[in-house]
Amino acid sequence: MEADSRYRPVWAEIDLDAVRANVRTLAGVASPAALMAVVKADGYGHGAVPVARAALEAGAQWLGVALVEEGAELRAAGIDAPVLVLSEPPPPAAPAVVALGLTPVAYTPPGIDALAKAVADSGAEPLPVHLKVDTGMHRVGCAVADAGRLAESITTRDELRLEGVLTHLAVADEPGNPYTPQQLDRFEAVLDDLRRAGVGFDLVHAANSAALLEDADRARFDLVRCGIAVYGVPPAPDLAGRVPLRPAMAVKARVSHVKRLRSGDRLSYGLRYAMPADGTVVTVPERSQAGPGDVTINVSPDMLRKQLTIIGSWTFSAMGQADCARFIVDNEIKLERIFSHRWKLDQASEAYRVFDTQSTGKGVITL
Ligand SMILES: Cc1ncc(COP(=O)(O)O)c(C=O)c1O
Repeated sequence: MEADSRYRPVWAEIDLDAVRANVRTLAGVASPAALMAVVKADGYGHGAVPVARAALEAGAQWLGVALVEEGAELRAAGIDAPVLVLSEPPPPAAPAVVALGLTPVAYTPPGIDALAKAVADSGAEPLPVHLKVDTGMHRVGCAVADAGRLAESITTRDELRLEGVLTHLAVADEPGNPYTPQQLDRFEAVLDDLRRAGVGFDLVHAANSAALLEDADRARFDLVRCGIAVYGVPPAPDLAGRVPLRPAMAVKARVSHVKRLRSGDRLSYGLRYAMPADGTVVTVPERSQAGPGDVTINVSPDMLRKQLTIIGSWTFSAMGQADCARFIVDNEIKLERIFSHRWKLDQASEAYRVFDTQSTGKGVITL
């Protein structure tokens, strides 16, 4: 059930100009490969349809979704760009895939059979299919050893056309990790084997945002699938700054309560935080991204402009009493959220922002 939040002074603002700017930047790095904007999970929470439209306007040529339902939402909104369903649709969904003109990823015999049957039953044109090979992510995709057989089961069917071959990289967000080149080596060996066997396909793709930013030359192939970077979030702290990205979401909240505490006073569950000095505690009624300790918040000099920016560490800086006072007077803060695979967090809670008043400006946030 959706919580009724009419009375809750928290809101998100989505900047579609930022999406457009990010897509233009990413398309430039991806070129001459094409760019896919991944808009699964309601456009990473930003709204799939508006993000998809903005991304296409800015030069994305493909959209990526996880579910057939998500593809249906795009089509219902009148979006007719190529949409890749990044996981093999369950067999009962195959007729919808065909009717909606979605491009499915496939990697099992029953999945391929169901797609071929749906095309035959509807009398539709041959359906383009992308074969997903598991080169080490060990989530979805066929085993390297099965790629040839499955590719053949697609190419030998009149109803299907092998348009693409792809893989997904597990640790591209860890620059320098040798596992990524190893996955790419395995992938290239599969491609070589397929070509030697006379299997034809037009599009090869492997890169997510991190792989594009880390090693575009090696990972770009024909198509690059970017999610997180489209939303203006660096896929990993080490990849921040490789290209200019603008956060597309700002979560804003009005402070709901302010109180003064004395040095040594303890607060919140477990009383784990002790005030290191007299200070001010600010409560924000935010649906927080509280998670396993790796939400990271930094109060930047932007704080002078009433902004809290969540960027990557638990450490506060530049937060003196004067700033805090100004912040409270203005009674509004801006939180820019980082969404990343490592920080997938979903917990409704009050967020207590604890600002101490030491001249060092060090502070702590408890969520
Ligand atoms: C197969 C596939 N490719 C690309 C992406 C986009 O990844 P990122 O958000 O790291 O750019 C995803 C997202 O999960 C995915 O599942």
